[in-house]
Amino acid sequence: MSPLLACSGLTMRFGGLTALDALDISVGKGETIGLVGPNGSGKTTFFNVLTGLYKPSAGAVQLAEQDLFARSAQEIGRAGVARTFQRSRLMLDQTVFDNIALGALNRLDLSLLSALVLRGRFRRQLSELVERATALTRRFNPQIAANLFKPAGSFTMIDRRRIEICRALVGAPRLLLLDEPSAGMTHEETRALMDDLLAFREEMPDLAIVLVEHEMDVIRRISDRCIVLNFGKKIFEGPFDALIADREVQTAYLGGAQ
Ligand SMILES: Nc1ncnc2c1ncn2[C@@H]1O[C@H](COP(=O)(O)OP(=O)(O)OP(=O)(O)O)[C@@H](O)[C@H]1O
Ligand SMILES: [Mg+2]
Repeated sequence: MSPLLACSGLTMRFGGLTALDALDISVGKGETIGLVGPNGSGKTTFFNVLTGLYKPSAGAVQLAEQDLFARSAQEIGRAGVARTFQRSRLMLDQTVFDNIALGALNRLDLSLLSALVLRGRFRRQLSELVERATALTRRFNPQIAANLFKPAGSFTMIDRRRIEICRALVGAPRLLLLDEPSAGMTHEETRALMDDLLAFREEMPDLAIVLVEHEMDVIRRISDRCIVLNFGKKIFEGPFDALIADREVQTAYLGGAQ
């Protein structure tokens, strides 16, 4: 069976710098990939290219056999790729609902016409979205669901991360890209967030996840398979135990970063 995501020869150059160097990366339906590597190795760039923020310089990208190479962010979102950002992108003054609704824009018909002329349809979509946001946030923390119309900034760090993940999930993606979800959180908070993700994954067994993470405990717990980048090249691919034992990974990453 062909993989959900298949990237081959994926290359991203910024002037003279090759941030992604002919990457071949595949992700199967329902699979969780742990993506690691030193600072500046290309992990976020990989997400930025996959989600259409950057136009790749060369290569091929397919999602479920749909060609997504150099497509717009909106097309890619509609095809089923969603992400969170390394640095929080919540609008803290806006409500939780407003933040989550942004993640559904690809799916909603929010044109001026539908807003003005087809008010009934617009209202129906909106109330469906409230239901979806309530159900999603409740899975992570009932307190978020109960306060959907409070500003996102009034929540704790871990709840803000949960809200960001809900924003990515509300469009029902097939592939979820998480860029260092544990950044800035305590060990306890990280563990709680990973428990949430594991529970969520059981409910959505088809959802594929690529998780960028520096905490190796998290990678061990959550990954089916690991990929290591160094200077934009894939230097390792395989199970966590083999990653830990790999010489090149030890030199490039584990020795240097820890
Ligand atoms: N928009 C850009 N313009 C120029 N260079 C960039 C741009 N974005 C990323 N780079 C460069 O590409 C390389 C890879 O950066 P990237 O942010 O993908 O690394 P990373 O693996 O996510 O690192 P970290 O673990 O610190 O988040 C770096 O050398 C970075 O400076
Ligand atoms: Mg990064």
